[in-house]
Amino acid sequence: MTTVLPIPTPLTAAIAYRHARADDAAALAALQAASVRTLAAGHYAPAALEAYLRLVPVMDPPPVGRGVLYVATAGGAFVACGGWTLDEAASTDGLEAPALPPGVPVVRSVYVHPGWAGRGVAAAVLHLAERAAALSGHGTLALTALLNAVPFYRRQGYAATGPAGLRLPDGSRLEGLCMVRHLPESSRAA
Ligand SMILES: CC(C)(COP(=O)(O)OP(=O)(O)OC[C@H]1O[C@@H](n2cnc3c(N)ncnc32)[C@H](O)[C@@H]1OP(=O)(O)O)[C@@H](O)C(=O)NCCC(=O)NCCS
Repeated sequence: MTTVLPIPTPLTAAIAYRHARADDAAALAALQAASVRTLAAGHYAPAALEAYLRLVPVMDPPPVGRGVLYVATAGGAFVACGGWTLDEAASTDGLEAPALPPGVPVVRSVYVHPGWAGRGVAAAVLHLAERAAALSGHGTLALTALLNAVPFYRRQGYAATGPAGLRLPDGSRLEGLCMVRHLPESSRAA
């Protein structure tokens, strides 16, 4: 099923960025569903994407020092989210990701509302998350990318390190890619 939600606000609305809160969960789940059902539709079967949404929810806001989750809003509507976590269990979400380096912060839950895709909001959220990681002393970030998102992450400086996969209830496998980025020395905390 592909559902395109109406564009939430005029595209000229100013975008605000903030840390996610626990009470954002329902809005973030709706954002994720709209994003994945629309923007990943060309790469996966609808049933696989529905399974992904059930198995890989948006990450919870991590405890201080263990990661970050940012949201971007426009006119009060959620237009994008993304962050990173050091929580090993949460970071793989049941994905088989043998090429993820252990102990490295994992970028997660990067989703943009389809009405806002291609406008740089996803990159802005990712850059905020990378900056927070650098300021926490991390020099490398890893992630598991859906195949549709690989060109986006490449553009942001991430390189593929190996395959990732999510075993689905019907026995099939949703393919992804492990990727890593080494942050520039200049962006790291002294
Ligand atoms: C992947 C995703 C977050 C990218 O969002 P977006 O709004 O297109 O990204 P941005 O507008 O911030 O793009 C930033 C840059 O990446 C490039 N880019 C994004 N998608 C691209 C693609 N498919 N092919 C080539 N370049 C791409 C843009 O051209 C832009 O380049 P620029 O800096 O030269 O202008 C979005 O498509 C999405 O939410 N997809 C569904 C959910 C998903 O797969 N999330 C990732 C989970 S692993």
